[in-house]
Amino acid sequence: MSLLVARDVVVAYGGVRAVNGVSLDVAAGESLGLIGPNGAGKSSFLAALGGQVRLTAGSIALDGEEVGGLPAYKRARRGITRTFQMTSEFAKMTVFENLVTAGHGAEGASLRNVVRWRRTRAADRAVAARAWSVLDRFEMSHVADLYGAELSGGQRRLVEIMRCLMREPKVLLLDEPMVGVAPHLVDKLVADLRSIRDEGIALIIVEHALEVVQELCERVVVMALGRPIASGTFDEVVAEPEVQAAYVG
Ligand SMILES: Nc1ncnc2c1ncn2[C@@H]1O[C@H](COP(=O)(O)OP(=O)(O)OP(=O)(O)O)[C@@H](O)[C@H]1O
Ligand SMILES: [Mg+2]
Repeated sequence: MSLLVARDVVVAYGGVRAVNGVSLDVAAGESLGLIGPNGAGKSSFLAALGGQVRLTAGSIALDGEEVGGLPAYKRARRGITRTFQMTSEFAKMTVFENLVTAGHGAEGASLRNVVRWRRTRAADRAVAARAWSVLDRFEMSHVADLYGAELSGGQRRLVEIMRCLMREPKVLLLDEPMVGVAPHLVDKLVADLRSIRDEGIALIIVEHALEVVQELCERVVVMALGRPIASGTFDEVVAEPEVQAAYVG
């Protein structure tokens, strides 16, 4: 059975249908690439899955249960998480504090949550232990006490992903995870994402860096003007004339 099933998803901003009828299924442990030209509706579709925008029409089911009407924080509890761009709070917290606040179920990083955590930390050894294990796994223990603002682009991306993993997700939504990552670190991030997939988490990755999609995603959906125009392996979709035409514009 598919883990995540989206049917006929529509997202309209005012009169503009940014996502205009997208259906797809994703299985546990699968990485699905979502590509297409600028303005195709990829980010809007991820936001529809994550609950950051309201569905104008359509449905989203996780493990057979409809979640399309739930707010983002409830979907996150069910197991759909997404990475966010660095927030100002992220920058003002240490990496460890970022992970711990995420582990406590805070939707975005927030200083209020850090303060709360500092008060109750003795009771929260399990979350702290998980943070250390995630740091170890991605060889990031040495930056645990650095502030978000002190990290490189690649390290920030990894911390965003690690924050998601603190929630023990089933589905991880990634919007252009390679932006700001130094070229020599792209391979490490690809390997890290592959290991996350291999533990059974479904990845949906929007990415303009097509070589990354080719390497990481066993299946690719191409969107243009709010609709899927092709799906298959990377090699299959890039060979389709309609896909080539959409990229040329
Ligand atoms: N909050 C918003 N309000 C109004 N229109 C929006 C909003 N967000 C996106 N749009 C419009 O919806 C369409 C799809 O945008 P979206 O950001 O989803 O595309 P995308 O495929 O992620 O593009 P890119 O590759 O450039 O990130 C675009 O025409 C965009 O201008
Ligand atoms: Mg986008």
